[in-house]
Amino acid sequence: MKRLEGKVALITGTAGGQGRVAALAFAREGAKVVGCDLNAEGAETTARMVRSAGGEMTSMAPVDLSVEEQAVAWVDAAAATYGGVDILYNNASLGRVGALSSMRTATWHFTVRNELDIIFYVTRAAWPHLVARGGGSVINTGSIIAARGTDMPMAAHGAAKAGVIGLTAHLALEGGPRGIRVNCISPGLIANDMFEPLLRDPNDNMHKQVRTSPLGRVGRPEDVAPLAVFLASDESSYITGANIPVDGGQTLGIGMDFGNGDGGMVLPGKPELPEAEGERLEIPTADGLSEAWLFTPGHGEGPWPGVLLYTDIMGVRPLFKSMAQRLADSGFAVLLPNLMYRLGPPRDPPLSVKKSGDFGVLLGMADTLSRATIEADSSAWLEALAGRPECAPVPLACVGYCMSGPLAVWTAAAHPTRVGKVAVFHGGHLVTGKPDSPHRLIGNSRASYYFACAETDAFMTEDHRAVLETALAQAGLDGSIEVYAGTYHGFAIADASFHPEGAARHWDRLVEFLS
Ligand SMILES: NC(=O)c1ccc[n+]([C@@H]2O[C@H](COP(=O)([O-])OP(=O)(O)OC[C@H]3O[C@@H](n4cnc5c(N)ncnc54)[C@H](O)[C@@H]3O)[C@@H](O)[C@H]2O)c1
Repeated sequence: MKRLEGKVALITGTAGGQGRVAALAFAREGAKVVGCDLNAEGAETTARMVRSAGGEMTSMAPVDLSVEEQAVAWVDAAAATYGGVDILYNNASLGRVGALSSMRTATWHFTVRNELDIIFYVTRAAWPHLVARGGGSVINTGSIIAARGTDMPMAAHGAAKAGVIGLTAHLALEGGPRGIRVNCISPGLIANDMFEPLLRDPNDNMHKQVRTSPLGRVGRPEDVAPLAVFLASDESSYITGANIPVDGGQTLGIGMDFGNGDGGMVLPGKPELPEAEGERLEIPTADGLSEAWLFTPGHGEGPWPGVLLYTDIMGVRPLFKSMAQRLADSGFAVLLPNLMYRLGPPRDPPLSVKKSGDFGVLLGMADTLSRATIEADSSAWLEALAGRPECAPVPLACVGYCMSGPLAVWTAAAHPTRVGKVAVFHGGHLVTGKPDSPHRLIGNSRASYYFACAETDAFMTEDHRAVLETALAQAGLDGSIEVYAGTYHGFAIADASFHPEGAARHWDRLVEFLS
């Protein structure tokens, strides 16, 4: 027996998106589906699709559920056609976005009417039919937006969806004694006809949403429909009043950036970097032998200005060796130390921040680094670099990415006569409340600075940038802080949140700054 065999299921908004996929899924499980939509053509197409797949579906359209009489007429017609109602899936909604300050009263009312009122009208009309059946299942559609923000102002939409979730809870209380279960599905970003083209454009704001999902992709209507079928079926007979997110973990990922995971819909082109190995060195430090690699230009005569290049949290790996070689080829002697040499040689294959299991390990490894360790280690690394015949006798530079931004500043602060330039790309924790916060120690250095920041970066916000700017000014140091439009934390790194234009700009600005 199919999971919804013989049940009469009313689904709103069946012209496309999640409503269409739900209609197909409910019918596949044996339900008699009754759809409706403002869009007559789309609704009819869905009904045809269901029927040609062997299912049973009727549909009424155009129906405007925000008009009470039309909502009631649709429900009553469905109940009359099939002799009752077992399931109501309130999927339809139509909201408006916009900031409160410029929102017209009509916009507010439109959103509340088409997102919340329609559920009230339809559910109140269906209620006596459900009671008459001895119970049934109502599934509402909320949104994760009810409880979290996006960079798009959505006050009316968020409030209406929060209303849907509240309504769900109270209807579950009212419905329980009558055998009516009421639950809510709160989708995250689910591709539909409107979003799909925007998601394919890496420059569109919508694309940022992909990055907040640990699963590295947006949802599809097919991710939502199975939950609706489950909530409609007797398998969920002990579940009522629940609000269940279908969001690929986006709600948990608030403020985080998981990059363009390989499962993402958009993968901007990654750069072709030359394979490079460099000369492997073992540099004695107070704590043992630190592995490091020296890269020099493949052509021309040295010596060249020396650069100490610090990796991001993922450490020395083929990608960073290629980056070191590319920098060297612009006329520098580049030393790439294994920052975490105390923990052994670089991992092969490297750990990745994109793998949730690896991420915790990397954080633990990074925790072994401190101002004290980096001050001691950088003495040895700078000494080794300056002592090489390939390295010119001029002040050295230090370059850091992400977590090594602070390490680069600490290095310059500890060696003011040796380090003349510091460049940091999407650095994190440069401004903290701790006594050794890099912004507090920057005045101990004599370097000039270039900080390249991502436009969206929880580790380097506008407030952090302002504090850093003040610290540079108070120290009387040359320095500039540049924000790269449209980029995220990790934009310069091909296996992180790579941004082709941001990364290309990073190379230009880095070479210009160091030259
Ligand atoms: N797509 C997402 O990213 C997302 C995220 C969170 C929540 N949701 C919710 O999921 C549900 C389905 O979303 P979707 O992306 O499939 O949307 P969609 O716009 O593709 O489909 C909604 C359908 O509802 C119909 N509709 C709207 N107002 C109506 C009215 N007054 N009367 C009759 N029909 C009406 C529309 O014509 C449309 O066909 C909605 O409730 C939406 O708010 C979607």
